[in-house]
Amino acid sequence: MAHCFVTRRLPGDAVERLAHRHSVDVWTERIPPTPEQLRSRACEAEGLLCLLTDRIDAGLLDGCQRLRAISNLAVGCDNVDLAAARARGIAVGYTPDVLTETTADLAFALIMAAARRLPEAIRAVHAGEWLTWEPDWLLGHDVHGSTLGIVGRGRIGEAVARRADGFGMTVLHSSRSSGVPLPDLLERSDFVSLHVPLTTETRHLIGAAELSAMKPTAFLVNTARGAIVDQAALERALRENVIAGAALDVTDPEPLPPSHPLLSAPNLIVLPHVGSATHATRERMAGLAVDNVLAALAGEPMPHEFPA
Ligand code: NAP
Ligand code: GLV
Repeated sequence: MAHCFVTRRLPGDAVERLAHRHSVDVWTERIPPTPEQLRSRACEAEGLLCLLTDRIDAGLLDGCQRLRAISNLAVGCDNVDLAAARARGIAVGYTPDVLTETTADLAFALIMAAARRLPEAIRAVHAGEWLTWEPDWLLGHDVHGSTLGIVGRGRIGEAVARRADGFGMTVLHSSRSSGVPLPDLLERSDFVSLHVPLTTETRHLIGAAELSAMKPTAFLVNTARGAIVDQAALERALRENVIAGAALDVTDPEPLPPSHPLLSAPNLIVLPHVGSATHATRERMAGLAVDNVLAALAGEPMPHEFPA
């Protein structure tokens, strides 16, 4: 029997399954452990099931000599120093596939919400501004028949492309291994949707120059990671009408403080990182994350080890 630290309560019975085989310590607060709290609880553990809000860096790993398995409850693993884990022989697991369709649904919801001004329309109803049917009130942009530019056509990007086909959209994409160069995609798209992982290469992939290359009628949608976009440049671009709008499920930092200047920019939708947040998907993610820990602690390959 090994000892595991699980850094948050998880939906479903996955943690019970883990506790059936190993001793389990669960962080039960809503607010994540501080780096010090994380270190003091994880240093006892052989298995760590963590969240994207937990920074797993070399300093933490140095204090966790017993650790054999890190299982991240996310497909994005930019919160884990993968090289440092590998150098210490610690397997790192993640949760691909099970959240792909759910996250693609949300990306599409953001495209629709931004194009058709849904938040503004909902606010207007509640504020008593719905006086009558007006020919020129709350006019938005058509999604059907428009051009979608997908940056990073992997699992989620591909799932978004399938949805776009159903809307009769022209789909372009840009990745390292296929598609069109990013400047072409930016110039031609009515909606630009980001689906790359956050890496040193993709940090601030979308900055002032890229925003200026977009059509003034185009929208930027980010369900990948906040730091892929230079937020200061995005704020300026929205205030100066360089693009028509943006819809973000992810920001930098997270959470974005309510007083953050970005939040007062026009034509902006911000969600609190809920891309994979459905009952069924979060249960599947928890199940997969526990499968990863169980396998590694049994000396077997993780079913979903983050690729080298
Ligand atoms: P994936 O299958 O690995 O797809 C990522 C794609 O990005 C790959 O096809 C890759 O293609 C491309 N790519 C990587 N580096 C690139 C670069 N420097 N420039 C251009 N393209 C690049 O990953 P996924 O499962 O679709 O997930 C994508 C990301 O979404 C995750 O890493 C995570 O950060 C985010 N996510 C967010 C939520 C949410 O709740 N909002 C939920 C799930 C995932 P090439 O190798 O051809 O370049
Ligand atoms: C969520 O953001 C994930 O990477 O799974």
